[in-house]
Amino acid sequence: MAAERDYVLGTHEEELARLGLQHRVWRPVVLDCWQRAGITVGKRVLDVGAGPGYASIDLAEIVGPTGEVVALERSQNFIRALETICRARSLANVKIHELDLMKGDLPKGDYDFAWCRWVISFVNDQSLLIEKLGAIMPKGSVAIFHEYGHYETWRFLPRLPMQERFREHVIATWRESGGEPDGAIQLPGLLGENGFVIRSIRPHIFCLRPSDYMWQWPATFIETYLERLIETGRIDHKFAEQVRTALASAEKNPNARMLTPLVLEIIAEKL
Ligand SMILES: C[S@@+](CC[C@H](N)C(=O)[O-])C[C@H]1O[C@@H](n2cnc3c(N)ncnc32)[C@H](O)[C@@H]1O
Repeated sequence: MAAERDYVLGTHEEELARLGLQHRVWRPVVLDCWQRAGITVGKRVLDVGAGPGYASIDLAEIVGPTGEVVALERSQNFIRALETICRARSLANVKIHELDLMKGDLPKGDYDFAWCRWVISFVNDQSLLIEKLGAIMPKGSVAIFHEYGHYETWRFLPRLPMQERFREHVIATWRESGGEPDGAIQLPGLLGENGFVIRSIRPHIFCLRPSDYMWQWPATFIETYLERLIETGRIDHKFAEQVRTALASAEKNPNARMLTPLVLEIIAEKL
């Protein structure tokens, strides 16, 4: 079960649910991106670091029975969750590989697309991952990334000093676990070195009100990650309460806004 412990955000039930909410909040943006990139019926898509497979399921429905989704994931808990959903929805076009992206080769296939979201921040060797992807993606295939490019854009207006201290713990703990929160910045260079040409780069950043659905994405992250930081002894209950109080005050303030962490959408074609 080392893989469960290795992942800085955890693979427990609350994280599974949080990833589901995160996917639902982002779904309109993601569906638009997939359409622009050309994902359609009959295509074969590799989902790199699929988690519990919320995107894999949507992709499987889009590509349909003549297409295929190959999901790569290390966590057994997440894989079990994905298997359960595939069974419940009778989706026979999802293949799941339990593997550590940092160890061994990625499965070869005649993929049309690779989809990689919020994984680059958590692997401890990004260049190795892109090298492995470059080695298996066929000529003319397309790799799509949604990854953080500047995590410090995540802030509140008016400023909440406790949220900013929390954000610094997030950044520090991801780096200590071997990841890089601003990993997207390195992708264009790494993709170029591994035979990809960039088709487009698009920033996704939002300025939210508490009543916006998307507000729930960072808000639920705060709650689950506070618990994680307490569990690992990084912060105490008093710190957590101060962050919760600050968030609650913003939620009552009609002038409050939240700027989200910058996500870069990168679409690249394999030459
Ligand atoms: C933030 S989650 C994102 C999951 C999914 N891509 C999504 O968008 O919902 C990051 C995922 O990367 C996986 N992961 C991190 N490092 C990994 C590695 N070395 N090998 C395989 N999976 C890894 C984690 O287990 C987790 O499921």
